[in-house]
Amino acid sequence: MTTESVRPETPGAPVLREPPLAGGGVPLLGHGWKLVRDPLAFMSRLRDDGDVVRLRLGPKTVYAVTTPALTGAVALSPDYIIAGPLWESLESLLGKEGVATANGPLHRRQRRTIQPAFKLEAIPAYGPIMTEEAYALVERWRSGQALDVTAESFRVAVRVATRCLMRGSYMDARTERICADLATLFSGMYQRMVVPLGPLYKVPLPANREFNRALADLHLLVDEIVADRRASGQKPDDLLTALLEAKDENGEPIGEQEIHDQVIAIITPGSETIGATIMSLLLVLAEHPELGGKIRDEVKTVVGDRPVAFDDVRKLTYTANVVTETLRLYPAVWILTRRAVTETELGGYRIPRGADLIYSPYAVQRDHRSYGRHEEFDPDRWLPERVKDVPKYAMSPFSVGNRKCPSDHFSMAELTLLTAVVASAYRFEQVSGSDARPRIGITLRPRRLMLRALPR
Ligand code: HEM
Repeated sequence: MTTESVRPETPGAPVLREPPLAGGGVPLLGHGWKLVRDPLAFMSRLRDDGDVVRLRLGPKTVYAVTTPALTGAVALSPDYIIAGPLWESLESLLGKEGVATANGPLHRRQRRTIQPAFKLEAIPAYGPIMTEEAYALVERWRSGQALDVTAESFRVAVRVATRCLMRGSYMDARTERICADLATLFSGMYQRMVVPLGPLYKVPLPANREFNRALADLHLLVDEIVADRRASGQKPDDLLTALLEAKDENGEPIGEQEIHDQVIAIITPGSETIGATIMSLLLVLAEHPELGGKIRDEVKTVVGDRPVAFDDVRKLTYTANVVTETLRLYPAVWILTRRAVTETELGGYRIPRGADLIYSPYAVQRDHRSYGRHEEFDPDRWLPERVKDVPKYAMSPFSVGNRKCPSDHFSMAELTLLTAVVASAYRFEQVSGSDARPRIGITLRPRRLMLRALPR
């Protein structure tokens, strides 16, 4: 590790230090190989080197932010925008005109367009779809056959997101294709982010060809969905209608490309994150069978024998705490990046203009400095009398600030309802061939989880 002082550009301004260089870099590749080989352990160790540390990714210097307070400061500051290695590679997938990658006035306008579909008052209308899909899963799993949890989780995630936000029977036939395409795309994206080999990904190797085929099909699907909605002449009160009727700064309808990119920018993170979290939840239920028993008891007390409905969700506090603790230990979005638009100060360090920053909700949410028995799964740490012990920004799985996930209420309602329904119906056990080790891509999830659902 090395630390240097940097002369201030303005005379009289405080001397800002250069953040220390993180340990463990190697010539040429720098820290990139560690980010590829064991990124969770690598990111989790960085706070020992400093509150802000420099990483070398090939020829690039990237600044890693390691404390809850400073990650909160980055997320809330207008000096840092969405850009950098993660977003550059995501733009080729999500498009340049979607809410997840836009900045400035365009981003503010886009958030205003999509926000009504996610606001608290809009969520109850999605309740019947969430309930229907949760009980459909219970039915599907009745055979007792080993479940491919990856496929099952993404399937239900895509179905709920698309049925709630882009209502229409035309979705039914397309959800399976969306799932298959997204699975291929997300497995290739992380590699493109940390090992940016540019043109080499255009070489027609089988993996690259498969990636490009899935990407083309996803774009085609979105065009089909938009065309079908228009042809139907229907305007249900949902996200797709909001996008089709949105106006730009001049009061003109937004362009076709923007509608297209917006649909991709919303269903892609929406399906991937929820799918990954459902997988983690099912793993948790398999590893801690006592949680499922407590959830079933809570459902019996709160709901009785009728189906769980959206109105029950806010009373299912234990179940919600299991979901929250799962998001703490297995945050689907485990890494985030930003770019400094100006030279700034962060924790007493100088961050140059144009610098790329990264931070990891996974590392922050498992830090022993913030959580007692930090690796232990303990839903009760979210009880009102204990939650105040959690340092500010030490638990932000949906992020904070202007890029905060618009879907935090939607996601918590969906995940709590689903967990209540499936844990009341089944216990879960891993079967041979299951591999629950973390799989690190753009999102974090178990690698290949195979479970058997045993009726309670
Ligand atoms: C943004 C997490 C579910 C749509 C984000 C961000 C996080 C996040 C951390 C902020 C990214 C950043 O700061 O750079 C999650 C988690 C989810 C979830 C953990 C579920 C467990 C969803 C769902 C949808 C969705 C269901 C849509 C259906 C979005 C969009 C953005 C976003 C559009 C970009 C917002 C912007 O840049 O203004 N999500 N998300 N997310 N999320 Fe989610």
